[in-house]
Amino acid sequence: MFGSSDRTSEADVAQQVWDRHLEDHAALEAYAAAMHELAESHWKTADDRTDHVDRVAWSYQQISRYFTKELSKCLAKDARRLQHRDPGPDVAVSVPPATADEHPATKQAKVDPNHSFAAPFRVLDVGSCFNPLRVHKDLDVTALDLAPATPEVLRADFLQCFSSGQEGPAAELCPHSFDVVVMHYVLSYMPSPWLRYKCIQQARRALRPNGLLILTDPDSSKQNKNGPRMAAGWRRAIQSCKFRRVAYERLPHCHAMSFRAVEQPHLVDADVYVASSAQKLGQGP
Ligand SMILES: C[S@@+](CC[C@H](N)C(=O)[O-])C[C@H]1O[C@@H](n2cnc3c(N)ncnc32)[C@H](O)[C@@H]1O
Repeated sequence: MFGSSDRTSEADVAQQVWDRHLEDHAALEAYAAAMHELAESHWKTADDRTDHVDRVAWSYQQISRYFTKELSKCLAKDARRLQHRDPGPDVAVSVPPATADEHPATKQAKVDPNHSFAAPFRVLDVGSCFNPLRVHKDLDVTALDLAPATPEVLRADFLQCFSSGQEGPAAELCPHSFDVVVMHYVLSYMPSPWLRYKCIQQARRALRPNGLLILTDPDSSKQNKNGPRMAAGWRRAIQSCKFRRVAYERLPHCHAMSFRAVEQPHLVDADVYVASSAQKLGQGP
């Protein structure tokens, strides 16, 4: 995705655009209110009418399925590969080093590669807006957003989390302490590929080993013929940050993907499953 000297200038420009965006408090608040109304009043009722699985329901299904079934399959596959010393279909993309201003807690964080996951699962909902996952009692959700639409959502820029510059309630968040990171319609909100990449690196920092990253991002097949290519590009970039895909599905209005946080880049998953709707695309990512 990156890898040349262009990275610095792209990063600088993206950061400037982002900093200006963060200063526009009135626009952020207006967006939060509009987004909340859209999601709760229009999308939800439209999906109820058509029986569509929406992004929030899909994510909840993925979390249940992953921790009851898919994770043990992935670990068994890792063990088989280790036995046969099969490095698997690796991706040869280097991961940029952690930033210099990383919070000391990041370095001290205890990372238990053998953590056994149990409900309630610790979920970080990034760009949550109104904390739609709060209704699930088997999830312990921390919701954050640049401009929260409801009071229980922490006000924070996820790109600053786990760094020494982080202030406010999100400064308490511990790296490598979440079982799941969810981002619904967040990556496509960001104005540059570099910021999206940084966001994925942050998600990797938030997760325990073998934790689950869930992403949904809008797609309109009629307007966007490049949708499959875009999703494939995202998959490659995300996998380069020590993630391996678990699931991909094309929902009526979005791409929905989940990835496992892996520690050893040579222990990689082939796809665990690809939903039938993705296969219909012919070139699902
Ligand atoms: C399109 S809205 C989606 C809201 C909600 N996840 C949903 O699906 O209904 C994108 C949200 O991401 C938030 N967001 C974008 N970048 C963020 C960041 N770096 N840190 C925290 N929140 C962010 C925005 O403020 C906005 O509320």
